[in-house]
Amino acid sequence: MAVIAGNWKMHMGPVETTAFFEALRLEGVPSRHELLLFPPAISLLAAARAPSRDRRIQLGVQNIHWEDQGAFTGEVSAGMAAGAGATFVLIGHSERRHVFGESDQEVALKVGAAQRNGLVPVICVGETLDERRAGRVEEVILRQLDAVLPTCGTGGSRFLIAYEPVWAIGTGETATPGDASAAHATLRTRLEGALGISAATRVPLLYGGSVKPGNAAELMAAAEVDGVLVGGASLDPKSFAEIASAGG
Ligand code: 13P
Repeated sequence: MAVIAGNWKMHMGPVETTAFFEALRLEGVPSRHELLLFPPAISLLAAARAPSRDRRIQLGVQNIHWEDQGAFTGEVSAGMAAGAGATFVLIGHSERRHVFGESDQEVALKVGAAQRNGLVPVICVGETLDERRAGRVEEVILRQLDAVLPTCGTGGSRFLIAYEPVWAIGTGETATPGDASAAHATLRTRLEGALGISAATRVPLLYGGSVKPGNAAELMAAAEVDGVLVGGASLDPKSFAEIASAGG
C-alpha cells in the first residue's frame, strides 16, 4: 500500500472544497492506497464535514506554528488543526523554507508541536537546482533530515518524509525514477542508522514534484518510493483519482 497525498497549497476555499469531494465521489475513489489531502487551513472544517468525502481520505494541514497558543497573529496551532479535522501536517515544505524563510530549527520545533498534539508530520526535504548542479543533493537532504531526527526519531510516533526537489515543483520537470530512488536510498540509510532497520522501513518516503497521472505509476514503482505528494494535479478530482489508482 502506497501513500498518495495531495497538497492544495493556496487553492480551494471552503465552498470549492465541498464541491471537490462531491466531484471526487462521482469519479470514484478506487484506491487501495492510503489517501491524504492537505487543504488550506480555512477549508479544513469544510473538508472534514463534506458529506461526500469518502472517510478513507484523511486530512492534514499545510503548516502549523510550533507553540500551542499565544500572540501569533495569523498562525494556526497543531491543536487547532486537529480540532478542525486534521490528522496529518506538512512540515518544512520547500515553499515554507524558501518563500517564508523557515529554518531547519523551526521545522524541528514544528515537528515537536505536531507530535505533542497527535498530528502525524509529513516532513519535506529537497534540494534547489543550484544545490543539485553543485553536487550537493545528499548534503542538503541529510542536513534537513538530521535537523528533525532528534525530535521525531524518539518515542516511536509515526512520521513520513517527502523528498521534493525544489526544481521539480510546479515546473513540469520531474525527477527521473532513478533520481528519486537515489535520494530516497540516501534518506533510508540515514533513517536506518538513527532508528534501526525495522523502524526505518516503516517510515514512508514520498516523492513530490510535478507528479501527474501520466508519471505516477512509474515513480511509485521506483525502489524506495513509498508514495507521492502531489501539488497541482491534486486540485482536479479526475487527475487525483487517476493518481490514486496508479500502481494498483
Ligand atoms: P507540483 O505537483 O505542483 O509540482 O507540486 C509539488 C508539491 O510541492 C507538493 O507538495
